[in-house]
Amino acid sequence: MFVKNCWYMAGWSHEFNFEPLVARIFLNEAIVLYRATNGRLIAMEDRCCHRLAPLSAGRVEGDDLRCLYHGLRFGPDGQCNEIPQQPGKPVSKVVRVRTYPVVEKHGAAWIWMGEPARAVPDLIPSVIGPDEGPWSMLPGQMTIEANYSLLNDNLLDLTHVAYVHRNSFGRGKEDQTAEFAGIPSVTTRLDNGIRVERWMPNDLAPPYIAEILPGMDKVDFYICTDLLIPGILILNSRIYKSGSIDRCSTAGLEGEEPIYAEYSCQAITPVNKSRTTYFFALGPWRQHEHLKQMYLALGQLAFSEDRAMLEAQQKVIDRTPDRGMMNLAADQAVASFRSKMNALMKEETTEE
Ligand code: FES
Ligand SMILES: [Fe+2]
Repeated sequence: MFVKNCWYMAGWSHEFNFEPLVARIFLNEAIVLYRATNGRLIAMEDRCCHRLAPLSAGRVEGDDLRCLYHGLRFGPDGQCNEIPQQPGKPVSKVVRVRTYPVVEKHGAAWIWMGEPARAVPDLIPSVIGPDEGPWSMLPGQMTIEANYSLLNDNLLDLTHVAYVHRNSFGRGKEDQTAEFAGIPSVTTRLDNGIRVERWMPNDLAPPYIAEILPGMDKVDFYICTDLLIPGILILNSRIYKSGSIDRCSTAGLEGEEPIYAEYSCQAITPVNKSRTTYFFALGPWRQHEHLKQMYLALGQLAFSEDRAMLEAQQKVIDRTPDRGMMNLAADQAVASFRSKMNALMKEETTEE
């Protein structure tokens, strides 16, 4: 049902700074997260091994977590180090709870739900976080009542912008946005995902571009999306002077600076098979920082449009589970990513 041996985004780092314990569900497993005294995030199964009470109803004591049912205390490695009912007696090694590798990088916490020995931090996708690099981004998130694979499909097929986002990105001009669906794209297989690139030549510049680049009402857009296993999106959007496309291949303009650029990183984390958390950060170059709030608002509006469509789509799927989907020639990226994910899930099931 899920690919387990990979890093999933557990949340933006700042989300773990307010409450001592944060209860979350990832891949249908209940997890409790807390910060140890040195600030390191600890993730444990949210289930005491004694009588199965939730540890998220417990209390952080230094680096440890105490279950507040009968008081068993667990260290950051999940080992019970105190049973109040057996004072002075050594605690058996079997009295322990499962812990999960967690690493904070790029302004986010990443959790590994598979075999801990395979959790190499270098495998964390090389996204750029909200406070990194040349971008000025604000983070956000939303819950979507749909299977994660529908979100992955959505991010791999941006032609839906023409219809789903006709009122947000399309600013209500459906006759113009409809053209977006017909723009050719180039799909490339990456080691751990799929890249889709497209050019929109001589396109109408959005109002905020015309505002910061006076006289630039028509521009060439280049959009590159990498969707990495298990559902991490890196979106680079660059704007060049109109006519630039004539000097380049579909792979972008090597060595030529765009006149404007936007970036977004997004992460799809399954809560369970029918609910998904959608994390996102997006924004412009740092020199146009004043636009970042506008980006977040526009993103939130657009992602709510996605949510409405995906939740409606999930309802149709649930009503008619025996009806399969159809792959058109244009669905190459979607089909390749799904087959990569299915191959990984099959591999993991065989190994178990
Ligand atoms: S259920 Fe946790 S100590 Fe008993
Ligand atoms: Fe969308």
